[in-house]
Order: sequence, then structure tokens, then C-alpha cells
Amino acid sequence: SSMHAELEKLLDTSTGAEREVSKKDFEGFKNIFHRFLQVKGPSVEWIKIQRPPEDSIQPYDKIAARGLPDNVADSLNKLVVVKLNGGLGTSMGCKGPKSLISVRNENTFLDLTVQQIEHLNKTYNTDVPLVLMNSFNTDEDTKKILQKYTHHRVKIHTFNQSRYPRINKESLLPVSTNLSMTGQNSEGWYPPGHGDIYASFHNSGLLDQLIAQGKEYIFVSNIDNLGATVDLHILHHLVSQPNGKRCEFVMEVTDKTRADVKGGTLIQYEGKLRLLEIAQVPKAHVDEFKSVSKFKIFNTNNLWISLAAIKRLQEQKAIDMEIIVNPKTLDGGQNVVQLETAVGAAIKSFDNALGINVPRSRFLPVKTTSDLLLVMSNLYSLDAGSLTMSPKREFPTTPHVKLGSSFTKVQEYLTRFESIPDMLELDHLTVSGDVTFGKNVSLKGTVIIIANHGDRIDIPAGSMLENKIVSGNLRI
Ligand code: UTP
Repeated sequence: SSMHAELEKLLDTSTGAEREVSKKDFEGFKNIFHRFLQVKGPSVEWIKIQRPPEDSIQPYDKIAARGLPDNVADSLNKLVVVKLNGGLGTSMGCKGPKSLISVRNENTFLDLTVQQIEHLNKTYNTDVPLVLMNSFNTDEDTKKILQKYTHHRVKIHTFNQSRYPRINKESLLPVSTNLSMTGQNSEGWYPPGHGDIYASFHNSGLLDQLIAQGKEYIFVSNIDNLGATVDLHILHHLVSQPNGKRCEFVMEVTDKTRADVKGGTLIQYEGKLRLLEIAQVPKAHVDEFKSVSKFKIFNTNNLWISLAAIKRLQEQKAIDMEIIVNPKTLDGGQNVVQLETAVGAAIKSFDNALGINVPRSRFLPVKTTSDLLLVMSNLYSLDAGSLTMSPKREFPTTPHVKLGSSFTKVQEYLTRFESIPDMLELDHLTVSGDVTFGKNVSLKGTVIIIANHGDRIDIPAGSMLENKIVSGNLRI
């Protein structure tokens, strides 16, 4: 086929180690590309969707009620923590890996992760390693930083996910002309989503290495989810299952609120648990999908997966994930698509998969500076790398915060706060336009601050705003 010829041409632009890695990547790419050409129509038939059976999604409290055994350390020594670290900080206006953005007291996402695991290892005298799945976008910068953890009590491993060629939307041919990543070619490549973890973990040899060390489960999560700490109850539940009924895959889900309409949900389909993402939903059913009453829970992307099962399924080529077609427009205006997969979509390929409905606190993603404001504030306290909500907050819900476009970039956001306001009694904050906050501002109830175009509002140091609208010169 013409794709095959184009890939051969690309390979010929390079020699040596780079060529070898690219060969493996192209095997994976050819596979997803052929599947992409074959699939016609939606990946689910709506009428075949069933509610998951009662015992297939268990409440966290039920799992935790069984208590912990004395030998927690034995369980921990079977565990590997994996963080998905292929993504950049572009959506918050940062160059480089997202994991290197400071989120709390000068600590980055990565610092907090290392502190959490180090704390576990010291407390239980264990050896839980950290594995980072990097992409070609994040590998170099991440590795430079890793040197600072050499004297911490955490063994850190990395492996690289694949690099696939972006393809032109019409011709479906690669847009890159060269394997190198410089100049115009840098836009020709992408990391194909976190579903890539199964193939690249296996290909890297690290999977086998960890199995040989006696490791049994990985706990995988987004590195930007500050709530994704190692949960000893879930771990204990997994390692204490009787042989033959071993649960190979746990997806932590949590109750959906009206703010979470886009997250994937668990359904029963052809006798198995399956992840249903909004992209798979036929247009006529999108409102139904978003409703909180029919699909009550969503995927946090905190997953516990058996290493032996990954190895077995990978060797049988039996991991089946729906393709996500992600359209993009390049700087030059060219329309391309990138074919991706999501790690949770593989749930249907594993035996005895289980959903666990966890407290909302295990889902604390930082996607925007509005999220960042919450986690930097006195709503949370930091202890051994983990954030917990302050007991001084009366209701355990987080305020709704909406910062306008002058706050999108982390750098600019930081210059707009002399200190982070007291938010313990805040319910709702909307800020729009050129607004700055002085030191020790306190925000309570619903606060809306809107500076019109050309105006600037400086909230004076020490102000207390309670149920207030501040707009231009008008103060209510
Ligand atoms: P994103 O931040 O890109 O996705 O990645 P999202 O829309 O919030 O959430 P999902 O995709 O529905 O879960 C989530 C995590 O996955 C990593 C990112 O670094 C982040 O930690 N990621 C994403 C990879 O490691 N590789 C990829 O190819 C894509």
C-alpha cells in the first residue's frame, strides 16, 4: 500500500539506534492504521449497552471495611507505581513536561509523587519503585530532573512511549518527510495516547524486569491527578484474591456531578465491563450519556493492573482498544489526524475486571490555573506529598472557580496574586479581565469580579469579599 511505501521512505532517512526504535514504532502504527481503515460505524450498538451488574462496581467503603493485615509491606513489595508522563504543559502556557510545573510550595507534580512514594517506603520499610512513561516530548527534560532524586528512597525507572506519524486528513499519508524532529518535521509526530502503555512497557523490557523482581500489580494514573495516591485497601483487596479468581484490572470510578459530563463511564457490553467514552456515543444519545442519572460514575484513570496479565495479553496480541481519531490543525494550516488509544479502554480484555467507586478526593486533576488556584490555597494542606482538604472547610466540596483568559498562563496567573486568597468559605469565584489580588485577600460565598476591556481592577490587600460582584467602578 502507499502508506507502507511512505513509512519505508521515512525509515530510510535515518540509521542506527533511531532507525531501530522507529521500526518498532512503525509496527504499532501500521497496526492501528489498518484497524482505522477497517472499522466502519460506531464501536458500540446503543441498544446492547447494559447497566453493569451489581457486584462489578463496588463501593470503596466496602473494600476498606475489611481492614488491613499486619503484612502491608508484603503487599507493597508487589506494587509498582506508574505515572503517565507523556504530556506537555502547553494548556497552562508552559513549555516542557507538565509534570515539572510547580503546584504547591515550589513542589512540582513529580516532586509530590516522589515524596509520596518515599514516605511509603520509609514508613513500611518497602521498595515500591516509580515508573514514568515518557514521550519523545518529555523524556529529555524529565531525565535531567531525575538526578535530583538520586538520594531519595525511591527507585525511578523510565521508558518511552511510541512516536507515530501524523497523517493528512484527506490523503491519509504521513505529513513528515524525515524521521528527525527538527524544523518543520517536529509537527509531523505525536505520542499516541496513554493506551500505548501496554505495548511500550512490554517492548521496553521493563515489564519483564519487574515481573522477575516479584512485582505483581501496577498502579497507573495521570501525573496531574494529585488525588492519585497509593491506596492500601485497594492494593490489599487485589493481592488477597484467591488464585483463579484473580482480578486483573481495577478501574477507580467516582460519582459524576454536572461538572463531569465528559468523562468516560463503565458499561456492561457483551458480558464484559467496558469503558464508554463520549467520542463513541452516537449523536442522538449524547445528552443521555451526559446525564447524571443514567450513567452515574466516571473513570478517574486511576487503574490497578496485573503485570502478568499485561504480559500474557500483549504476547497474544489480545489487548483491544477503540481508536480515538483526534483531529488537529498544524501551524501551517494543514488538517491532520492522529490515531490514539486510552489506557482504560483495555478493561474489556482483562479477566475479572472490577470498578471501585472511590471518594471524590482521589480525583484532583490540575488541568487549568483555576484548578491550580484551589490546590495552592488553604483549602488543602500538604503532608508527605499528599494533599488533603482542610478540616476547617465546612462542606467537603470544592468551590467552583473560573478564571478568565488573563489567567490562562501560569506565569501571568502567578503575577496576578500577591498571595493566594483565603478560600475556606468560598463557593463560587468568577474572574474576568485585567484583575489583580493584593496580599491576604479573603473570598467568601459567591464572588464575581469583572474588569471590562480597558479597565483594571486591583483588589486591595486585606480585603474581605463576601457575596460580592465587583465590576468596573460599580461595586455592589
Ligand atoms: P491528558 O491530560 O492529555 O488527557 O492526559 P485528559 O483529557 O486530561 O485525560 P484522559 O486522556 O481522558 O485521561 C492524561 C495523562 O496522560 C498522559 C499525560 O501526561 C497525563 O498525565 N499522557 C497522555 C501520556 O502519558 N501520553 C499520551 O500520549 C497522552
